[in-house]
Amino acid sequence: MEQIQEIRDSTPMDGISMSAITRNSAKPPPVSCECGCGEALYPVRFWMPEGGAWRYPTLCSLQEEEYKRQKRAETLRWNIEWIDEMFPRRSMGPRQLEATLDNYEPFEGILAGLKAARSYLDHWEENEKRGHGLIFQGEVGLGKTHLISAIVNELNRRLIFSYFLSVPLFLERVRDSFDEVNASEGKVMRSLAAPKLLALNDMGAEKSSQWAIERLYQLIDDRCNYRSPVLVATNLDARGLASVYGARIMDRLYEMCGAPIRLEGDSYRKRRK
Ligand SMILES: Nc1ncnc2c1ncn2[C@@H]1O[C@H](COP(=O)(O)OP(=O)(O)OP(=O)(O)O)[C@@H](O)[C@H]1O
Ligand SMILES: [Mg+2]
Ligand SMILES: [Zn+2]
Repeated sequence: MEQIQEIRDSTPMDGISMSAITRNSAKPPPVSCECGCGEALYPVRFWMPEGGAWRYPTLCSLQEEEYKRQKRAETLRWNIEWIDEMFPRRSMGPRQLEATLDNYEPFEGILAGLKAARSYLDHWEENEKRGHGLIFQGEVGLGKTHLISAIVNELNRRLIFSYFLSVPLFLERVRDSFDEVNASEGKVMRSLAAPKLLALNDMGAEKSSQWAIERLYQLIDDRCNYRSPVLVATNLDARGLASVYGARIMDRLYEMCGAPIRLEGDSYRKRRK
């Protein structure tokens, strides 16, 4: 007589269930997936000390895809939190986390920025391969931070690891770690090499020590060497940036990003009133 045994185990092994096992039997017929997809699930033979058995896959192809997607989303969240924790506060607040290109109102003067951001996302794979980034430059309140946040948010939504870094916070952090005898500085530097895209917000907003700027140079030089793209948002023009950061940093940024995209007009903060 065929011996049928049910073994319960809530954790799937390689997507294969332990929940319905038919031991020492001929191959049982496929069953239809209960998720509604209608996929036929064929039992798989496996070996146990007591002899061979059959088991059905726990997940159909659709569920397996979803399971993998959730795992990737979880890893992405960990990666972002891992970097966030190295800084005294998070670079992105709710305002930045909510920024999208769809909630960026198009005005004259900023259309070039919106167009560049859209095109950047549309051609992400190519940009990634070439290590190509963007620089948004202009007066206060024109939505430079909004645009780079929106790009980071969209890539993260696609599960492409992107990170938004406040440059003043970075400079503050590496200055602090210098005070702590450098203990964690290597970790900060390595962590910022990891994202597929790194957005540098507020470049030039703070004068910093030569030593901290040297760390920023290292970061940019590293990303440049590995063709890892960066985005930049800044109030300063080329001359202003060069005077704060020096030619070595700026030369690399222009090589990676091309000419800055200039936003013009009245501050959105003022417009909204
Ligand atoms: N065109 C726009 N449509 C919708 N919201 C906008 C637009 N431009 C800016 N904002 C919003 O206005 C606020 C200020 O914009 P943001 O911080 O992006 O400007 P900025 O150019 O980075 O300014 P700053 O130079 O002061 O850093 C943000 O909340 C942003 O979401
Ligand atoms: Mg800004
Ligand atoms: Zn299914």
